Amino acid sequence: MTPPETRKEIQKLTDQINYHNNLYYQKNKSEISDYEFDQLLEKLIQLEKDFPELKLPDSPTQRVGGTITKEFPNVAHEYPMLSLGNTYSAEELKDFDSRVAKGLDGEPYEYFCELKFDGVSISLKYENGMLTQGITRGDGVRGDDVIANVKTIRTLPLKIKSKNIPHKFEVRGEVFLPKKNFELLNKEREDIGEETYANARNTASGTLKMQDSAEVAKRKLDCYLYYLLGEENNVETHEEAIKKMESWEFQVSPTYKKCRNIQEVLKYIEHWEEKRNDLPLETDGVVIKVNNLSQQRQLGFTAKSPRWAIAYKYKAESVSTRLNGITYQVGRTGAVTPVAELEPVFLAGTTVKRASLHNANEIERLDLRIGDYVFVEKGGEIIPKVTSVDLARRDEKLKPVSYITHCPECGTELIRHEDEANHYCPNEKGCRPQITGRIVHFIQRKAMDIDSLGEKTIEQLFDLGLVKTPADLYDLNKEEVLRLEGFKELSTKNLLKGIEASKAASFEAVLFAIGIRFVGKTVAEKLARHFKSMENLMSATYEQLLEAPEVGEKIAQSVHHFFEQKENQLEISRLKKAGLQFESSFKEPEKISNALGGKSFVISGTFQNYERDHLKEVIVAHGGKVLSSVSGKLDFLVAGENTGPAKREKAEKLGVKIISEQEFEQLLK
Ligand code: IVH
Repeated sequence: MTPPETRKEIQKLTDQINYHNNLYYQKNKSEISDYEFDQLLEKLIQLEKDFPELKLPDSPTQRVGGTITKEFPNVAHEYPMLSLGNTYSAEELKDFDSRVAKGLDGEPYEYFCELKFDGVSISLKYENGMLTQGITRGDGVRGDDVIANVKTIRTLPLKIKSKNIPHKFEVRGEVFLPKKNFELLNKEREDIGEETYANARNTASGTLKMQDSAEVAKRKLDCYLYYLLGEENNVETHEEAIKKMESWEFQVSPTYKKCRNIQEVLKYIEHWEEKRNDLPLETDGVVIKVNNLSQQRQLGFTAKSPRWAIAYKYKAESVSTRLNGITYQVGRTGAVTPVAELEPVFLAGTTVKRASLHNANEIERLDLRIGDYVFVEKGGEIIPKVTSVDLARRDEKLKPVSYITHCPECGTELIRHEDEANHYCPNEKGCRPQITGRIVHFIQRKAMDIDSLGEKTIEQLFDLGLVKTPADLYDLNKEEVLRLEGFKELSTKNLLKGIEASKAASFEAVLFAIGIRFVGKTVAEKLARHFKSMENLMSATYEQLLEAPEVGEKIAQSVHHFFEQKENQLEISRLKKAGLQFESSFKEPEKISNALGGKSFVISGTFQNYERDHLKEVIVAHGGKVLSSVSGKLDFLVAGENTGPAKREKAEKLGVKIISEQEFEQLLK
């Protein structure tokens, strides 16, 4: 390619990928398969690597990150980032309304209500339609420009398509980690022995400040915008500004509402009090803004906050109860978690008896004493938390809690690494919950999927001296299982059948199951596909491990260390002897045609000419996409014999095309 041709090709790929990204993230549609999309992206990544000077400012490769920022530039905000006054009752809100009415000298006015999103505020600057800066709040006057990390947010336009835009403008909003992503992230961290994060907001905040934007991209942050600033925006009301942002394809939460008076505002507040729990992110209140911008100017600002807006904070449901004691749980990796044992109390629909206290720092922060009355809350998360001590009720004779020094399970002295908040029991090989925890990890659905075994059975197997490591499971015989409490002929047969069936689990699953620290499901998959077999993986050097996708120093070290241990080598050879899969059967799907280019399919029922898995492969090989559930964005439901009536009904309702096996074959032609 000549340089002008390369330039043209880069422009074409950039536009194409941005078009498909936009279609997918803004409109929930797709015109090409994931495979085709990845191909385009790969091509662009390679070209940008070879010709970095030709990379465009709105390049979609920034979405997957890869930029390392050692220090974020500290820059001044063009308009200071103020905070909002808070109110907690209808009375206080009516007082605000009176102040507004007075400030506007009896002129009529309207309000615009939005939810108060519990994330991290961000200010985004656009020049000539291009996103140029993404600045954190900082102290309100200056903040950090975290642009590389902001660009990983898929719903955020890097370039505004609309032609009719001001030369320069700024939008502000809230970056957040969707609740679902937060839970998944924590589950993954738990699985690989990393400390879990306390809440989504702080995690989002920490994520925005990470140096490696590729890591940020994996976390899948999202963003809602709620404020448009600039000199040439040509809008007279906040509502117009919101509509304008929507038309420029910024993501605005659809929960807003214009209210004609404070009574309507109160109704809005009531409406969302419960319903907000169903939203994809945490919210902690409502923001009420005077809608008309010239009225906003008339009302102005105090030193800290606008007089034209206020926040109404929902009361977090909170109760006070007695802290009866603290117990300590030891997990698979030896991490110790303190748990508050509470006098049972009714809170938001359930009786609460226990709450996690996370680690020793948290106990110190709360300054807990056994016998204290503590406040317990349920936030957006399901697990209750102790938020503070009711000091008015404290008995002065109570002594501060001293954290345990020895493992409550095996008596070994606990250790605490310098940079970690958790205490650990180092007795990996002899501490009961660590041993049984490793087996529970091994059998879980995401790993070997032995559902005939549960935690209680594993504990019994261990207590009877029958199972100490996963490999022991494959040596169990009928007589031994019959020794378990409640096990009869049939349950024994089922248990052994489940263990036997697990031998078919993929190498990817086996690699996750053996519980190498920091090797979660995704990393296990990448390692298995990169090294292809256990043998190759075990003999890989530290440097070779680093060459695998997703593998950094921490993981490479952990994997290398794991396979160096004699006990682990022995365990692996026993698992091999038992007949587990030690080779990856993954093959890159070969593309035959693009006859189904980008169309999505759900298959249901049974077919004459295909097994279900085969039909899925055919769809992918012809450029289509297989989805698991029927939704509005689905293109076809391929209905075989005995198609589920619920699926069919849903497809009919949503106007999804229902096709037979024969009609599907017509599509291939
Ligand atoms: S408007 C002049 N709207 O709450 C301030 N803020 O305590 C204009 N926030 O820093 C802010 N949801 O981070 C506004 N719908 C919303 C909001 C919102 C959350 C945050 C924002 C702000 C803080 C104020």
